[in-house]
Order: sequence, then C-alpha cells, then structure tokens
Amino acid sequence: MEIKKVGVVGCGLMGHGIVQVAAQAGYEVVVVETEQGYLDKGLSRIEKSLAKLAAKSVEKGKATAEDAEAGRAASWGRITGSLDKQDLADCDLVCEAIIEDLEIKKALFAELGSICKPDTILASNTSSFPVSVMAEASGRADKFVGLHFFNPVQLMRLVEVVRTDATDPAVFAAAQGFGKSVGKAPVGCKDTPGFVVNRLLVPYMTQSLLMLERGDATAADIDAAMQFGCGHPMGPITLTDYVGLDTTLYILEGWVERYPNEPAFAIPEILRQKVAEGKLGRKTGEGFYKWDGDKKS
Ligand code: CAA
Repeated sequence: MEIKKVGVVGCGLMGHGIVQVAAQAGYEVVVVETEQGYLDKGLSRIEKSLAKLAAKSVEKGKATAEDAEAGRAASWGRITGSLDKQDLADCDLVCEAIIEDLEIKKALFAELGSICKPDTILASNTSSFPVSVMAEASGRADKFVGLHFFNPVQLMRLVEVVRTDATDPAVFAAAQGFGKSVGKAPVGCKDTPGFVVNRLLVPYMTQSLLMLERGDATAADIDAAMQFGCGHPMGPITLTDYVGLDTTLYILEGWVERYPNEPAFAIPEILRQKVAEGKLGRKTGEGFYKWDGDKKS
C-alpha cells in the first residue's frame, strides 16, 4: 500500500497543517475547501509557516539559505488547492479535517467513498467522534482509520492512529507509516472517546475551568502552577483558549450525549458562557485571555 498522493479535505486550523507536513515530507497534496476564501486563507497560512520554518532552519544553522529556500519552494510546489472533491479521486490517502459535526462528516465520507478509487485509504482527523461511525458511512470500513494530529500540526510531534474493529491491519500499518513519514510519532489506539490524549487532556482542562469558576485561584495562577510546577509548555486555561473554547465545548457535548453519567465529562458553566458571548479563545482574539495572533496580549 504505497502512499504517494495525499488529499486533505478542509484547509482550516488542522487541515492546513496536515497539508503542509505532508508536502514537506514529499507527498503530492490536493487540498479541497468549500469556498475560495477559506482556501486562500489556509494556503496563505501554509505559505507563512513554510517561510518561518525555512528562516528558522537557517537561523539554527540546520540549512544554508539556498537549501532552505529550495526546500520551501519544493514543498509549496507540491500543494494544489481545489474546490472540487472529484480532484481527490486518485489520492492514495484522503484525510478529513472539516468542522466537528458528525452528520456533516458522515455525508462527506459517503461522498468520498464513491469518488475515490477503491484502494484509497480514508482518514478522519476528528478529536472526539467515533471513527467507526464515519467508517461505516464511507462504505469501506476496512480502509478507514482515524489520523488525529495536534495543534499546531507543524510543531507537535504526535499523531494518534485510530483503528476500529473493521480496520484492515495493512491499512493501519500504512497509516502509521504515513504518520512516521511526516515526522510524527504515531501512537496506535482503539476507537474510544477522545482516544488517548483528549480522554486525559479535556477533563484536565475542564477541571481547571471548574477551579476558576469556584474562584479557587486566578486563571494566571492556575496556568503558572501547571507551567512551572509540572513543566507544561502552556497552562490548561491558556491551552483551552489555544484549542478553541467552541471546539472544547463541542467535544464535551458530544461525550455527554453518549456518556451522560461520566463525571469526567462535566461541562463548566463558564465555558458555555464564553462560547455564547462569541469569545472562543485565540481565534477570536479573546477567550479567558486576550490574544494578538498566536500570542497572549
Ligand atoms: N508554523 C511555523 N512556525 C510556528 C508555528 C507554525 N504553525 N506556530 C508557531 N511557530 C513558531 C513561533 O512563531 C515561534 O517562532 P519564534 O521563536 O521565531 O517566535 C516558535 O514556533 C515557537 O513558538 P512560541 O514562541 O509560541 O514558543 P513555544 O516554545 O511556546 O512553542 C507551542 C509553541 C509548540 C505551541 C508550545 O507552546 C506547546 O507545545 N503548547 C502546547 C500545545 C498543545 O498542547 N497542543 C495540543 C492541543 S490539543 C489538540 O490539538 C487536540 C485536540 O483535538 C483538541
């Protein structure tokens, strides 16, 4: 099962990063969006990120300016944007990174199942939905895996490779191989809520918000505690802003619907309030903190 051409559906926060790491690893990549504006925005993020990484590799003495520029241009040249899903037909692997909405994802996979060549591996970057449900919808459950990357995809080393009971072991192995080839450490896991990371991380983030809600400590102190006490790169409240308060809420709501008696999935009122106010974290410039681009202001 050789993967040469990769398709990505969605060029948002996660999709643009997946496109970029695949192109950097030498794959031809087609990325499909629903509107030209979204596509342009995602491609421009990739362009900036590639330029930044090239500049950094020169700064760190890892490459000459000439080699870094050649690498940047080659990666960029391997990426094609499209508004037409038919362009995914001959991809060897198609990874979905669209909105976290199970019905929309199911419909997309049903369509991809009929568009893509029979041996195309289909993958979802979902953070929280059951992979088996999307696999079923695709009509090719044996060729379906979860490929869960982490934000920012360009920098985070992990990809969770999720197998369902129906995943063909050769497909699972090919997906793990793909993860490795794009410079990630693939971790295999079963199709359980949140897989490994989010099953641990989201309840931890939630607990930090409940702590804030109770007034046990300030947001800044909770974050400083975990940064300096446990060596985390970001404290949990900063991380919730970074991930997106809406995304965190969707993840929790999906779990609560399926596991209403699991106390670890309790939803803090403070999270609902912020989302209702449109304060979604870094992406809207304000969540629990104020943000200026990627940095807290
Ligand atoms: N492309 C290229 N460069 C990038 C970049 C990108 N996408 N994003 C950041 N950088 C650059 C920054 O611009 C910065 O460059 P300078 O040094 O020139 O300023 C450099 O990388 C380092 O960034 P920071 O200065 O912000 O410093 P940092 O050391 O804190 O690294 C971080 C940033 C890697 C994001 C780090 O803070 C971190 O690991 N945070 C935790 C992130 C995390 O936990 N992610 C998982 C979220 S959960 C998830 O994704 C799953 C889910 O389903 C919800």
